Amino acid sequence: MKVQFTETVLRDANQSLIATRLPIDKFEGILGTMDQAGYYSVECWGGATFDSCLRFLGEDPWERLRRIRKAMPNTKLQMLLRGQNLLGYKHYPDDVVRKFVERSVANGINIIRIFDALNDMRNIEVAVDETIKRGAIASGAISYTTSPVHTLANFVEVGKTMKKMGCETICIKDMAGVMGPKEAYDLVSALKDSVGLPVILHTHCTTGLAFMTCLKAVEAGVDVLDTATSAFSGGTSQPATETLAYALNQLGYEIPLDTAVLKKVNDFFKPVFAEFVKNGTLKTKVLATDTDALNYKVPGGMLSNLISQLEMQNALDRLDEVLLETPKVRADLGYPPLVTPMSQMVGVQATSNVLNGRYVNVSKEVKAYLRGEYGKAPGKVNEELKKQVLGDEEPITCRFADTLEPLFEKTKKELAGVAKSDEDVLSYIAFPQVAEKFFAARKEKEEKQVKYTIEKVED
Ligand code: CO
Repeated sequence: MKVQFTETVLRDANQSLIATRLPIDKFEGILGTMDQAGYYSVECWGGATFDSCLRFLGEDPWERLRRIRKAMPNTKLQMLLRGQNLLGYKHYPDDVVRKFVERSVANGINIIRIFDALNDMRNIEVAVDETIKRGAIASGAISYTTSPVHTLANFVEVGKTMKKMGCETICIKDMAGVMGPKEAYDLVSALKDSVGLPVILHTHCTTGLAFMTCLKAVEAGVDVLDTATSAFSGGTSQPATETLAYALNQLGYEIPLDTAVLKKVNDFFKPVFAEFVKNGTLKTKVLATDTDALNYKVPGGMLSNLISQLEMQNALDRLDEVLLETPKVRADLGYPPLVTPMSQMVGVQATSNVLNGRYVNVSKEVKAYLRGEYGKAPGKVNEELKKQVLGDEEPITCRFADTLEPLFEKTKKELAGVAKSDEDVLSYIAFPQVAEKFFAARKEKEEKQVKYTIEKVED
């Protein structure tokens, strides 16, 4: 039996260990080698990479994608998309979702892994539809979590709906690394039996379960595992590519990876990792095995965000209290899986509850959630809290995007002279202030370059 691998170093490992601060200059040199490794796909875009490029790295995320595409002509490039939220934290109108998917595929993406934080299928249908229309592979991702309202039967139903929509593969997205080997075995078996599509497992090493979970998933017939080159593996990141390839190969599975190439890839990333340790971007805490997460269900990215949030407020000593408050907020909100944007919403609210008193401040995102703007909560929300926050306001029951006016053409007109492409318009729609700053900085840089060229000519 064959087991394939998706390498995550450029996206999730980068996001989980170093808050997505890896600039393209630090990895572009190895892409040609990675292209020879035999990966099923390389996850390289989407998630937080888009925001981070614009906000912290002074990079055009679309240009990054084109450069990766050019350097890796033989490998399927994969991105993570938050359904109707795209790469941001709110719902966008359908025209924007369709345009974003279209431009992503046009710039080089082959596989779009699409999920909704609440597993509300109405929130992924447009993105899935457009992905298929553009000739890319739509992979439906089930946001995995454990709670009194999440059952094996529910997850299988979600998988069946995704297949009906036209998804070619089903990914189990265990963003918190809380899926145990038995749960993996049962869920992979159930999905293989009842849905009949290739199954991909995405997990994190946060709680130390990942290698065992992957092994049992393989025994149940999983087709693809998400892993990270060993230098960027472990902790809140994925399990190591080379380790799993080695173990599974020994057990007799067919592993289509070139181990010599894997070594080159890892040798390249070792000093990159060391540099981020040295400059303090990588906090050692994210590398530890944290079994508390089995109770708190806090995903890796969320844990590192909570730490930096508390550090900024000089309150890191209250981390344990925040971690205790997190599941309570989650229960109040009807057990949403803790994945973007729910993880941020629950994390910020839990932090505020600890620092300012329970629900003294309620974020506008939590208000919108209680109004129904993010979709249907998996379980029952705390009615008292809902009443306190909404007052007499009626919650909505339709798909929230149906209430949104088309936005793309209108924004494009507004940005005439500023945006140079449809991609720029999309960057602006996703992150307006950040994109504006980025455009201004880019213009300044270009003007400087022009000046320099002119001076050179006059020499
Ligand atoms: Co992840």
